[in-house]
Amino acid sequence: MSARPQYYTRTAQILHWLMAAIFITAWFIGFYSGNFLSYNADGAFKGNVITLHKNIATPILFLIVIRIFWRYTHPSPKLPKNMSIPMKKIAHLIHWILYFILLALPITGCLFSWSAGHPAPVLYLFNLPTLIEPNPNLTAIVKPIHVYLSWFAGLLIVGHIFAALKHHFIDRDNVLKSMTSQGKS
Ligand code: HEM
Ligand code: HEM
Repeated sequence: MSARPQYYTRTAQILHWLMAAIFITAWFIGFYSGNFLSYNADGAFKGNVITLHKNIATPILFLIVIRIFWRYTHPSPKLPKNMSIPMKKIAHLIHWILYFILLALPITGCLFSWSAGHPAPVLYLFNLPTLIEPNPNLTAIVKPIHVYLSWFAGLLIVGHIFAALKHHFIDRDNVLKSMTSQGKS
C-alpha cells in the first residue's frame, strides 16, 4: 500500500490550473453574453461572443476525461490533521460536485447548441460531431439546466477559492501549496 502524498502530482496541478483558467474565462464570457447582450442590439456581436464561449469551453470535455483517469490512478493528498471529520467530508463532497460540474456544464452546453441547430466548435479548429437533431423541446430542458448549473457553479467556485485562501492565510496549512508546488526547491 502506498502512503498518501503531500502534494498533487505535477500533472494533476497543471490540469487543475489549466481547467480552472478555461472554466473561469468561459464562465464570464457566457455570463456576459447571457445577461448583457441582446440579439436586437447587435445580433452579429452577440453571436460572436457565444461562439467564443463555446470554442473556449469545449476543450474541458477532453481534459476532464484525462483528469478523471489521472485522479483515479493517483491518490490525492491527505487533508490537514486539524480539520474535523465533517469538514473533510464536506471538502471531498465539494470536490466531487466540482468534477460533476466540469462534466455536466460542457455536456449540457453542447446539447443546448445542437438541439437549437448550432454546432459545438473546439478552439476554432473543428466542430464536435453533432450527436442529436435540432429539437426545441430538448432546448427548453437543457437551456435552463445549463444556465442554473452555471450559476450554482459560480457560487461554489467562489466558496472553493475562499476556502483555499482561508487554508493558506488563516489556517496556514499545506492545502494551497499541495496544488502549487512539489515541496522541493
Ligand atoms: C466549462 C464549461 C462552461 C461554462 C462554465 C459555461 C457557463 C455559461 C454561463 C455562465 C452562461 C450564461 C448563463 C446565463 O444566461 O446567465 C452560459 C450560457 C451559454 N452557454 Fe455555456 N458554459 C460552458 C460550456 C458551454 C459549451 C461547451 C457550450 C456549447 C458548445 C455552451 C453554450 C452556451 C450557450 C449557447 C449559452 C447561452 C448564451 C446566451 O444566451 O447568450 N456552454 N454558459
Ligand atoms: C483561483 C481559483 C482556484 C483556486 C485558488 C483553487 C484551489 C484549489 C486547491 C488549493 C485545491 C486542493 C484542495 C484540497 O486538497 O482540499 C483544489 C482542488 C480542486 N479544485 Fe480548485 N481552485 C481554483 C479553481 C477551481 C475551478 C474553477 C475548478 C473547477 C470548476 C476547480 C476544481 C477543483 C477540484 C475538482 C479539486 C479537487 C482535486 C482532487 O482532489 O482531485 N478549482 N483547488
